Order: sequence, then C-alpha cells, then structure tokens
Amino acid sequence: MKAIIVTGAGTGLGKELSLLLSKQDYHMILTGRTEDKLNDVKKQIEQSGGSATVMPLDLRNIEDIKEKALLLSKKHELYGLVNNAGLGYFGPFSETSDTEIEEMFQTNVFGTIHMTKAILPYFEQIDEGLILNIVSTAGLRGKKNEAVYCSSKFAVRGFTESLQKEYEGTGIRFVAAYMGGMNTPFWDESEHVSDPTRFRSASEVAKIIIDNLEKAEIVIESKKS
Ligand SMILES: NC(=O)c1ccc[n+]([C@@H]2O[C@H](COP(=O)([O-])OP(=O)(O)OC[C@H]3O[C@@H](n4cnc5c(N)ncnc54)[C@H](OP(=O)(O)O)[C@@H]3O)[C@@H](O)[C@H]2O)c1
Repeated sequence: MKAIIVTGAGTGLGKELSLLLSKQDYHMILTGRTEDKLNDVKKQIEQSGGSATVMPLDLRNIEDIKEKALLLSKKHELYGLVNNAGLGYFGPFSETSDTEIEEMFQTNVFGTIHMTKAILPYFEQIDEGLILNIVSTAGLRGKKNEAVYCSSKFAVRGFTESLQKEYEGTGIRFVAAYMGGMNTPFWDESEHVSDPTRFRSASEVAKIIIDNLEKAEIVIESKKS
C-alpha cells in the first residue's frame, strides 16, 4: 500500500488532508510534535476504515528528520510527502523577535527543504512520487505586518517552482498550494486576524486541494478576509 507522509498532521489543514487521503487508499504517516493529536487523527482514520502510523517529529531537528526518513523507508512504500507544517508570527517587522524569525524559517522553510531532501531519494529509486507543498497566498504577494512570514512562504514557492523544473520529465511531481485564510488553530495565539471564523474551513480547503492535485499550482483565494 502506497504511503503518504504529512507534516503537521495533528491539526488544521494537515489533519483534514490526512483524513481525505486515507480514504483514497493511501497509508497515512502522521508527523508533528504533539503525539496526542496525531493519535486522535490516527483513530479517526482507522474508524473510517483507513490505516495510519504516528511518527512524532520536530522539523527543527535535521538529524531526527534523516533518521525518521530512513526508518519510514524501511517499513513503508513511500509515495507522497505533504509539507504542511508551518507557523506565523505577525505584527510590525521591527517588533518581530529574533526567536520568532528563526522559528518561522526553521519550520516553514528549512523544515520543508530538509524533509524533501530526506524523502526524495526514495522517490527517485522508483521514479515515482508526489510532493505537495502547502504555501499560502503570503507566498504570492507581500502583506502588511507579515514580512517574515511572507518571506518564508516566498522561499517555499521558489523551492517548489525550481524543483518542478529540475524534475520535469520524471515520475516525481511537485505541487504548490496557495490558500488564503483558513479557520484553524494557526490563529489561536494571534490577534492579527480579528475573526478567523469567517475564513474557509480546513476541510473545505483540503477538499479543493485533493480535487486539483493534477495541477502544478493550486490557488485558493480567501472568500472573505
Ligand atoms: N490558517 C491559515 O489561515 C493559513 C493560510 C494559508 C496557509 N496556511 C499554512 O497552512 C499550513 C497548515 O497550517 P494550519 O492553518 O492548519 O495551522 P495549524 O493547525 O496550526 O497546523 C500547523 C501544524 O504544524 C505543526 N508544527 C508546527 N511546528 C512544527 C515543528 N517544528 N515540527 C513539526 N510540526 C510542526 C503543528 O503541530 P505541533 O505543534 O503539534 O508540532 C500543527 O499541527 C501552514 O504551513 C500554514 O502556514 C495557513
């Protein structure tokens, strides 16, 4: 059974993508830092007849990424990677702390790059694979009070578009998804958005992504902001 790894699979969009992909007969490998949340998603997948493995992983730890990738490659028929995990700190640039800058780049950018680097060799062996990078409309244009978050998402866009060119003509596909606001725990600690409940739900966005996976680029603008 082909397996798909999802980062940040315990909540929000990662969770909804995992639930949908598990219904398409993929074994889901659920990663993230909070094991309890991953176990809840695994339970939900199993209750609807699917299968999943929980693999706790902090994307800021490169050595751990490499070890877990090797471990997974020995146990599973790796076919897909969804680089979904990400976080944002918002507000005036001059007030963004060094720690916040580091954390956004470590997770959103380096996490995506190192996960991809660790998993790609297994896709290359079989000349087959799908890498779905969850970007944001913040990767398409700059936004006020989002300077570092936007920079991190522009980086993921450049990474994805470049690999699309590099792997053209192979069996390995890269898809970039650019969505506007979603109502997820992403906004729990933030006052940047006054009412996230007006955004699309993560399940709605996940469905649009899954329905459009044959495209190289999926753009889902906010219906409200
Ligand atoms: N919500 C929006 O409005 C919106 C809009 C456009 C794009 N996005 C993007 O969509 C993606 C998913 O976000 P979401 O809205 O679904 O928010 P979310 O519910 O907060 O999901 C983010 C996930 O990333 C995981 N994560 C964070 N840091 C991590 C780390 N160091 N290592 C491993 N996992 C880590 C979190 O799990 P743990 O804390 O348990 O590790 C969490 O499950 C992100 O890339 C975000 O930038 C969000």
